[in-house]
Amino acid sequence: MIRTPRILVADLHRHVGDTVSIAGWAQTLRLQRAVQFVIVRDHTGAVQVTRHRDGSPLEERLEGLSVESAVRVTGRVVANPVVTLGGIELIPDEVTVESHAEAPLPIDANTGPEGRLDWRFLDVRRRPAARLLFEVQTTVEQAMRAFAYSQGCTEMHTPKLMGTASESGAEVFEVGYFGRKAYLAQSPQFYKQAAIAAGVDRVFEVGPVFRAEPSFTSRHATEFTGVDVELAWIDGVEDVMDFEERMLAHVLAEVAAVHGPAIKEQFGVDVVVPSVPFPRISMAEALRIAEAAAGTGAGAGDSPRDDLDPAGERAVAAWVRERTGHEFAFVTGYPASVRPFYHLRPTGQPRLTASFDLLWKGLEITTGAQREHRYDVLVAQAAEKGLSPEPMRDYLNNFRYGCPPHGGFGLGLGRLLMTLLGLDSIRDATFLFRGPNRLTP
Ligand code: 4AD
Ligand code: MG
Repeated sequence: MIRTPRILVADLHRHVGDTVSIAGWAQTLRLQRAVQFVIVRDHTGAVQVTRHRDGSPLEERLEGLSVESAVRVTGRVVANPVVTLGGIELIPDEVTVESHAEAPLPIDANTGPEGRLDWRFLDVRRRPAARLLFEVQTTVEQAMRAFAYSQGCTEMHTPKLMGTASESGAEVFEVGYFGRKAYLAQSPQFYKQAAIAAGVDRVFEVGPVFRAEPSFTSRHATEFTGVDVELAWIDGVEDVMDFEERMLAHVLAEVAAVHGPAIKEQFGVDVVVPSVPFPRISMAEALRIAEAAAGTGAGAGDSPRDDLDPAGERAVAAWVRERTGHEFAFVTGYPASVRPFYHLRPTGQPRLTASFDLLWKGLEITTGAQREHRYDVLVAQAAEKGLSPEPMRDYLNNFRYGCPPHGGFGLGLGRLLMTLLGLDSIRDATFLFRGPNRLTP
C-alpha cells in the first residue's frame, strides 16, 4: 500500500505535482459513466478526487463509497483550472475506507435544531461554521488566561461537588453521595472567596457550572462553562469592572486578529474591538430607560420594578449604543433586594449593592460585585435574607480570621460566544448542550 505523510487539504496547493496522502470524509459522490468524482473534506477544506474509469479494483472501491465514510486517499496533486474547488484535483492511486458510513445520513440541510442536537457530531463535522466556533472558543479562553496571568491571577480548580447548597439553595442539582446528599456547584463563588481567604491574591477559574433552572430560553443551559475572577485588596467594585473590560478588549482584539475574516465569512459578523472604559449606567437610570421603552411609564404596575428583565436589558443596550456607539454596557448599583446577601452595600446606602451586570448587545454576560468581607456584616445580611448561618458555616469561617476586601465576577462562556458570533441560541455555542429536556447525546 502506498502511503505518504498526511497533508491537510488547505495545504495541497503547495504540493502540485507531488504524490501525497489526505485523510477525511467523502462529502459528495458523483460517479459518472466515464469519470468518478469524490469530494473529500477534512477540517481545513475540501478537494476533488478524480478517477477516470479503467475497471481496476480502485474503481470499485470508489463505487462502493458512501457519503461521510472516513477515507484516506493517496494520489498525485494536479493543477486544473476548470476545477471549481481551488483549481486543483487529486488523481488517486490508492483509497482506503477506514470506516464505512451508513446510508442515508440521519440529518441533512433541512434538519431542525433538535434533530441537529441529536446528531451533533455529524452536525459539527459537516458545518465549517460550527467547527469555527470551537476554534474561536479556544482563542477566547487562551486570551482570557493570558490576560489573567498578566494581571497576577492564579488559576484555581474548585470542587463541583458540595456538601451544602451554594449561594441560594434554589437552582441546585442534588446528587446521591454514598448514602447522603451532595449538590453540584451552581457557581465557584464561595470557593473562589475561600481562595482569597487562603491568600491567593487574584483568582481565575474556568470550569463547569450547574443550574437546576427549568428555563427554556435561548440563553439558558443547565450546565455551562463559567469564567470566574476574584480580586483581593480592591478599592471598590470599579476595580473589578476595570479588570473585566480590559480583559474583554484584549480577548476581542485577539479574536479579530486570528479569526476576523473567517467569522465574517461564516457568520456575517464584524468583530468590533471595544474601546475602554465601557459605558456605565446606574440601575436607577436603566430602569427609567427600560420603562420608557416598554411604554409602561411610572405607576403602571402596583410595585416599582427593581430589576431588569431581558426586554429591559435590550432597551438599555440600545439606548447606550445610540448615545455612545458602544456594544457593551455595565449596569451598576443593583438594589440589595435583587442581589445575594454577600454583595457589599456601599457605606450609607444599605438598600444598594456595589455590584454590576455587564450587557453585551443587550444580553447579560456577567454578574459581578464587591463582596462583604466583614464577618458580622455578612452574617447580618444573611439573616436579613432569611438565611441561617449553620449550613454556610464553612463559608462564613473564611471571614473570621482576617479577610481582605475583594470582589469579582462570573462570565458565561456560551453567552459570550453566542453574542460574539450572532447566534440565535446558546445551544449552538456549546458542543453538547444540556437543558431541562436534554441530557443526550
Ligand atoms: O449571574 P450569575 O448567576 O452570577 C454568579 O454566578 C455569581 N456568583 C458571579 C459573581 O462572581 N458574582 O452567573 C454568571 C454568568 C451570567 O452573567 C451568565 O453569563 C452566565 O453566568 N449564566 C448562564 N449561562 C448559561 N445558562 C445559564 N443558565 C446561566 N446562568 C448564568
Ligand atoms: Mg446574573
